[in-house]
Amino acid sequence: MSEIERDTGRQPYVRPDFSKNANHAATAPAFLAVHDIHAYYGESYIVQGVSFNVHEGEILALLGRNGAGKTSTLRAIAQIGSPLMTHGEVWLDHQPLHRMSSHEASRAGLSLVPEDRRIIAGLTVEENLQLAQIAPPIGWSIERIYELFPRLGERRKQEGVTLSGGEQQMLSIGRALARDIKVLLLDEPYEGLAPVIVDEIEKTLNIIKQQGITTILVEQNAVRALKLADRAVILESGEVVFDGTADDVLHNEQLRHDYLAI
Ligand SMILES: Nc1ncnc2c1ncn2[C@@H]1O[C@H](COP(=O)(O)OP(=O)(O)OP(=O)(O)O)[C@@H](O)[C@H]1O
Ligand SMILES: [Mg+2]
Repeated sequence: MSEIERDTGRQPYVRPDFSKNANHAATAPAFLAVHDIHAYYGESYIVQGVSFNVHEGEILALLGRNGAGKTSTLRAIAQIGSPLMTHGEVWLDHQPLHRMSSHEASRAGLSLVPEDRRIIAGLTVEENLQLAQIAPPIGWSIERIYELFPRLGERRKQEGVTLSGGEQQMLSIGRALARDIKVLLLDEPYEGLAPVIVDEIEKTLNIIKQQGITTILVEQNAVRALKLADRAVILESGEVVFDGTADDVLHNEQLRHDYLAI
């Protein structure tokens, strides 16, 4: 019996009003403060007043069912422009990302690794990493990235798109680290990967954390994400329905059932 199956019979989950968190940013700016953000794809209102704080050096799991708005929230934080953030603020280490372009937000220390990993065709592993360092701020050296992901070092001359799914994920994380980042936004990094590869990536996420980098991890594999994460935020229909510790979610059957279907 798993830890979770054993832990039944707790109090039903009563959803508190997380919109009150909207006040956090104004009073005590967190390292990364997402403050009442609203975002649209055209006329479609998708991110509906999301607020949460992320502490420096922690791993935050951002969870929710399919279509809950996880990817849209990450894209809004990264100032991609689609969805368009029409209201709200995002502060990273006292810098107002909401006043920046995605390019400026990236220079301010935010890096989004999208679900499709975006490996550049026609370039080797090493060239993909070198390209990330074409302009400052430069982060980890390429040799240090190979120490973190020895498989990438072994395949440095191989074309990036010919790597396995797991290796491509490592390359896209490596590319983020090649720049001087404060926050890593990972959108479903474990998708389609074998459990042993997920183990490997998890280990590297812990090493990255020890280096002081803050991570927001979006994952369908909620149990794995929760076991790795310090805290969790759960979205439902573009709103925050839970903000608390990862252990609170692992031990609350009702909450997992209502919002994560696990
Ligand atoms: N480009 C787009 N144009 C219009 N609507 C979109 C677009 N992308 C996503 N949506 C809608 O926004 C909502 C949130 O989608 P989003 O991709 O953010 O969810 P998600 O939580 O990441 O889901 P998944 O777990 O499937 O990745 C969904 O209803 C989706 O249909
Ligand atoms: Mg998504």
